[in-house]
Amino acid sequence: MRINRLAQTVVAIAGVLTGVADAVAVNPLPAPTSITWGTSGPKSVAGYLVLNGAPNQLVRDAWNRAFSTITTLKWVPAAIEAPIATYAVFPTTPASAKSKRASSVLTGVNLKIANANAPLQHGVDESYTLDITASSQSISITANTVWGALHAFTTLQQIIISDGRGGLLVEQPVSIKDAPLYPYRGIMIDTGRNFISLPKIYEQIDGMALSKLNVLHWHMDDAQSWPIQMNAYPQMTRDAYSARETYSHSDLKNVIAYAQARAVRVIPEIDMPGHADSGWKQVDPSIVACSNSWWSNDNWPLHTAVEPNPGQLEILNEKTYDVVQNVYKELSGIFTDNFFHVGGDELQEGCYNLSTITAEWFAANSSRGYNDLLQYWVDHAVPIFQKPANRKLIMWEDMVLNTPHAPNVPKDIIMQTWNNGPTNIKALAVAGYDIIVSSSDFFYLDCGFSGWVTNDPRYDVMENPDPTGVEITFNYGGNGGSWCAPYKSWQRIYDYDFTTNLTSSEAKHVIGVTAPLWSEQVDDTVVSMKMWPRAAALAELAWSGNKNAAGAKRTTEMTQRLFNFREYLVANGVQAAPQVPKYCLQHPHACDLYYDQTAVV
Ligand SMILES: *[C@@H]1O[C@H](CO)[C@@H](O)[C@H](O)[C@H]1NC(C)=O
Ligand SMILES: *[C@@H]1O[C@H](CO)[C@@H](O)[C@H](O)[C@H]1NC(C)=O
Ligand SMILES: *[C@@H]1O[C@H](CO)[C@@H](O)[C@H](O)[C@H]1NC(C)=O
Repeated sequence: MRINRLAQTVVAIAGVLTGVADAVAVNPLPAPTSITWGTSGPKSVAGYLVLNGAPNQLVRDAWNRAFSTITTLKWVPAAIEAPIATYAVFPTTPASAKSKRASSVLTGVNLKIANANAPLQHGVDESYTLDITASSQSISITANTVWGALHAFTTLQQIIISDGRGGLLVEQPVSIKDAPLYPYRGIMIDTGRNFISLPKIYEQIDGMALSKLNVLHWHMDDAQSWPIQMNAYPQMTRDAYSARETYSHSDLKNVIAYAQARAVRVIPEIDMPGHADSGWKQVDPSIVACSNSWWSNDNWPLHTAVEPNPGQLEILNEKTYDVVQNVYKELSGIFTDNFFHVGGDELQEGCYNLSTITAEWFAANSSRGYNDLLQYWVDHAVPIFQKPANRKLIMWEDMVLNTPHAPNVPKDIIMQTWNNGPTNIKALAVAGYDIIVSSSDFFYLDCGFSGWVTNDPRYDVMENPDPTGVEITFNYGGNGGSWCAPYKSWQRIYDYDFTTNLTSSEAKHVIGVTAPLWSEQVDDTVVSMKMWPRAAALAELAWSGNKNAAGAKRTTEMTQRLFNFREYLVANGVQAAPQVPKYCLQHPHACDLYYDQTAVV
């Protein structure tokens, strides 16, 4: 009785969402904007599918990867969204395989791409359609660009599954019309705090391609290390962790090419003028302020950094701009994207308090303050960054919203927001900036793994740091928790309504999202499990949203889709972390907190 009622609810929800025929077990992620399944029965897929209409090798390679995945995995959906009564036991064959079989066997893919030359840049058309009809032997894909076609392939490879007898099938004819809500859908890796090897970076890109994320924001360096080999200043990699833990120019080009082949842009970030010590100080120690200071958590009003180790570029030293220009120019010649991230976060006044030239500059004019100092940086550095033509810059929001900040930052610089959730998004939109949402309370993937600074007496306390034990504030923040604890679950990420309180014209300023994975506690061994499958929840949020056609949250429907996708990532070599006991995959909604399927609103 209970199960039947729940099953009816689930079917009703699924019906409202997408018109899914209830026998269909596949549930591609991200959910397409529109997907309509037929009812005429499964279609067999031949052991080969001939691709017609590929305009170039990039598309042929992408197809070969997709089809080889289809034929080698022979995927059996690992977690299906379906009535519990039907799927109470893990199906060894999809249920619909037992129903009548449509006559024609699929043997080919007809691809039509309107503009095969559109480059992979911000705002490029990523839409596609995918149609499998009862009568045709060919799958029909249309796209305006090759990038849309690549997305069609990653959808198709998720809906062709095992027929349970060694062959392949598509469960029902299907019609998909798909396009992303947001043009900028990213994850951020940090190779400054710890090194991440090329194979692990490729693994992240594999996961991104499968989930249709399209921007790899690469925070390349930080105060702790400089891993990028520079022709202009070979001495900078003396501050790499080792000779092995560096990226050569050809490494960078290989990452860019690997990503481009999978419809992923690579946007580099060189963090300036804050978070800057390693590498820079090898060029000239005079261009770095407070390099050898104690970061001074002990006496917080005098702190020079928010985490060890300190270092900020000397804003008033003219040599700084020569070095910045040469570093920027060299990297601009390698990275092909029109966007470039120039940092701008967490400038600490206490660092410049140790700078002689800054003290003299303040002494020369008592009206000057730290805001003027940051404005000096913007006025002198931004003209360097605006070459070459077509360059769009991204900065962290601090340069506009923090204390201190620059009062006059050009409005055509995109701001990446990470503080105060919807409040800062609103403030930036009202100010007229385009916005990338990375709100730390929702999207920071590094949170909740405890603090990492050492000699920390907060851990030498044998009592509950939150004796009230109130669930949502338990161990939040201090007393040994990470600054942005707790860990952000896939549900926290997926449920984030980041355009809350924006007018429709303000909402147009939000170009997309990025989930950062800061790497103080991340290297090759854990990067994938911290990134995935949570980044896939972000991917769907930015591709087709977290609401159904009726405007209701669809997190409960997403649950099985995400769990299946996690298994699919692992099968594809992406070491995504388990989210639940496998029991929950095999018993849809048995692990829900609430029986009411509309509890999430
Ligand atoms: C700068 O240093 C002086 C002297 O130590 C101190 O009084 C002042 O508070 C410092 N200012 C900042 C912003 O750290
Ligand atoms: C002193 O600094 C203030 C604030 O930046 C500025 O408005 C003013 O023009 C400066 N005066 C001189 C003489 O440079
Ligand atoms: C939206 O705005 C209202 C009114 O200013 C405010 O009370 C509410 O907290 C805001 N919501 C969010 C999520 O910021």
